[in-house]
Amino acid sequence: MKSPNGQRENWSSNLGFILAAAGSAVGLGNIWKFPYIAGENGGGAFVLVYLVCIAIIGLPVMLCEITLGRKTQRNPVGALRTLAPRSSSVAHLLGVAIVLGAICLIAFHRYGWGALSLGLGLAVFRHGWTVVGAMGVIAGFVILSFYSVVAGWTLGYVIKSAFGLIDASSVESATNHFVAFAGNPGWSISCHFVFMVMCVAIVIKGVKVGIERWSRILMPMLLLLLVVLIIRGITLENGSAGVRFLLSPDFSKLTTKSVLIALGHAFFTLSLGMGAMITYGSYMRKDQNIFTSSLAITFLDTLIAIMAGLAIFPAVFAEGFEPAKGAGLVFLVLPAVFSKMPFGTLWATLFFLLLMVAALTSGISLLEVVTAYFVDERKWSRKRATLIFGGVIFLLGIPCALSPDKDIVGWTRMPWLQNILVKAFDIKLGCFLDVMDTAASNWLLPLGGLFISIFVGWIWGTRKAIEEIREGSHNFADVHLWSLLAGLRDDPSHNSDVHVITLASVWGIFIRFVSPVAVMIAFLHTIGWLDFANKGHAPPPQPPPAVEQVDGAVATQE
Ligand code: ALA
Repeated sequence: MKSPNGQRENWSSNLGFILAAAGSAVGLGNIWKFPYIAGENGGGAFVLVYLVCIAIIGLPVMLCEITLGRKTQRNPVGALRTLAPRSSSVAHLLGVAIVLGAICLIAFHRYGWGALSLGLGLAVFRHGWTVVGAMGVIAGFVILSFYSVVAGWTLGYVIKSAFGLIDASSVESATNHFVAFAGNPGWSISCHFVFMVMCVAIVIKGVKVGIERWSRILMPMLLLLLVVLIIRGITLENGSAGVRFLLSPDFSKLTTKSVLIALGHAFFTLSLGMGAMITYGSYMRKDQNIFTSSLAITFLDTLIAIMAGLAIFPAVFAEGFEPAKGAGLVFLVLPAVFSKMPFGTLWATLFFLLLMVAALTSGISLLEVVTAYFVDERKWSRKRATLIFGGVIFLLGIPCALSPDKDIVGWTRMPWLQNILVKAFDIKLGCFLDVMDTAASNWLLPLGGLFISIFVGWIWGTRKAIEEIREGSHNFADVHLWSLLAGLRDDPSHNSDVHVITLASVWGIFIRFVSPVAVMIAFLHTIGWLDFANKGHAPPPQPPPAVEQVDGAVATQE
């Protein structure tokens, strides 16, 4: 990614980087998903678990990704290619094992999975660790294709709310309205198109003039909108019930599954495993502080998720609605909530604008991942890469935009695609949008995060990573944790060799042991190889009622 004078572009300041990276992290995951998963999983109890996941997995992996990017000044593929050993016996062994697995799958007539595994095995054998970088680029690409569709719905709702076109006198009418809107290909595809045009228009301008400048405008706007909506919510009569719902811990609703949900969400919400933090890190200068920036990004992301809950639940409670409506909360319940308030049109417009702004700052980071790869590795111009891949992602998003139909989700418009997926992969998911989301969120992100931790912890090595982090952040590598916690940072004992527990050593232990094991457990659970479902206090699954069908559709975008 070169500036006109041939140098790689950099963020103009640490603040610029923090705002852009926090913009990538803060998205639909924070404002849409976090409030309802917190609501469904014990409110404050879930928030506590989530904070622990962010601290022990999210933050350490974010440090890895940003460090890989800044060290190599490359996109995810280039970063791994630069640092990975030329020949890796681990990669060769893994490649052979995957190829053998593929042969077994083909022998058992699982042709789709067999072909996919064969391709992956050969790629791992030939390209080794670079494949991990490629997984990040592919994840960014796949996520943006469905993310943009949902972001398009928020855009449509901004327009509709502003002109008072949403009939939301009850949850039922809001549901019918959403079905008519999202199930209408004209609306769905054109909103998806406009959102992609907005992403392209920003990314095409480059790192400083495009991404950083817009992040500096959009992030404060997002915070302002949130604060206005929180004040509106908590000043309503009975709004405090919503605050209690979100923040008071109900440990009886917390299950092992909730912990794994928190872990999975930590990856999505911090934009980990999708190449975004590696790419954004690659535009950092050496004198910029990786550690404090990562802390600030993580803090802002978490703060905004909790603020989103505070903007939503007080209003929901104050107007007497059910908070536990799953993923449909935002499109099905909130319009009805706003319609009951004085100046409801204004609040609804501001809320969907907030959601759209959050989605936009994340969308541009995902497009930048793909763009950076083609500019760095294939020597394309930024303009060409952005336009072509903005277009390709738009096309890939069309089947997602066509997923909602009169049944809200389904395959009625694309039975042939469903047949192909069932025949080749035995995939029986609700709609194409679900397929894309599952592929990215359940497979690519956790596997990406797992391999990034293993790579930094065991292959590139924590010592080299620390050397890189130390440039611009001495405080990270050398601060003794106990001295810091005890308020003795300036005490002479601070530099004593007796203290072995520095922030750096704690990070190294997390990245080598804790993160890979935790992510592996979460991954095996997600793909169904490890079942904790009956070991917690969770009630047995119930058949979903009609509205939950809608939730299922919306849940797919996370
Ligand atoms: N991190 C982005 C989000 O939370 C992708 O939506």
